[in-house]
Amino acid sequence: MNLDDKILDALRDGGEIYTSGEDLCKLSGISRTAIWKRIEKMREEGYGITASPHLGYRLTAIPDALIPCEIKWKLKTKIIGREIISYKKVDSTNTVAYELAEKGLREGAVIFTESQVKGKGRLGRMWYSPSGCNIYMSCILRPKMTPNEIPKITLIAAVAVAKAIRDFTGLDAMIKWPNDILINGKKVCGILTEMKAEQDRVDFIVLGIGVNVNSKSRDLPAGGSSLLDESRKICMCGDLSRVELAKKLLESLEEHYNILKDKGSPAIIDEWKALSATLGSRVRVVLPGRSFEADAHNIDPDGALVVRLDSGILEKVLSGDVLMVR
Ligand code: BTN
Repeated sequence: MNLDDKILDALRDGGEIYTSGEDLCKLSGISRTAIWKRIEKMREEGYGITASPHLGYRLTAIPDALIPCEIKWKLKTKIIGREIISYKKVDSTNTVAYELAEKGLREGAVIFTESQVKGKGRLGRMWYSPSGCNIYMSCILRPKMTPNEIPKITLIAAVAVAKAIRDFTGLDAMIKWPNDILINGKKVCGILTEMKAEQDRVDFIVLGIGVNVNSKSRDLPAGGSSLLDESRKICMCGDLSRVELAKKLLESLEEHYNILKDKGSPAIIDEWKALSATLGSRVRVVLPGRSFEADAHNIDPDGALVVRLDSGILEKVLSGDVLMVR
């Protein structure tokens, strides 16, 4: 735990009661002046901290900022999120995570940012990433896998994210193959898996997750919505806490990643099917250079979508895009 975390923990524990400067000095091992400087910096980050010359300091407001102190507070994970790095603005958290993973950043490290200048979507698309309202994060994983097993990570990520969003909002988040998360048929979250691998061994995976939390649907690309706008269809509510959702995402990712490691992907398939918006639908499969309609029939344990062509033949779709026709 770093010094700021120690100071914040003490202020949180204090609640309405002031914590004296002397106590903060003792627990952090730094001078009163150094404490004061750190408190000033925390205020700049959005913390409300009241200071009284005789009583000390009291916490009055906590920012909904995607910063390590907030996300790590009472986070119930061992690996995912053990290291959190936050930025105000980056090109893409996936690009940053990839570069850091190449330098050896360990499994479970997560990069968050408030905004992205070149947010990356699947199939070369861009991901709309306005500042301060959504979640943009990338997690480094180092599974003992072969490159052709990567769709299993996509599979568990989609289940983990859909369940975290359900738990957080109470809304019926569904998965559109391979890993878009939809609510009421609108896309609220996208997942982009990138990797570095040799022929028979994955070096690392960067799992990038973008959730439209509080942005306005009217600002999003067609077919998109946010958790806030979908929540407001059933109740009056104010902005949703990005920090609380970020914690749930990390906890759910760890839970499902562990299931994959311990029991393999068949243990996740039934959950994926239960959350699927794709299975049973008529779909247009869009592959490089060809597209066709078919019925979405099943998902196999490797994460491939199995479609039934009009001729009755079953075909496996491993990558590409799927549009729901009806
Ligand atoms: C999709 O096309 O549905 C995938 C979108 C993935 C967006 C996230 S936001 C965080 C991470 N950084 C990126 O540049 N992309 C992913």
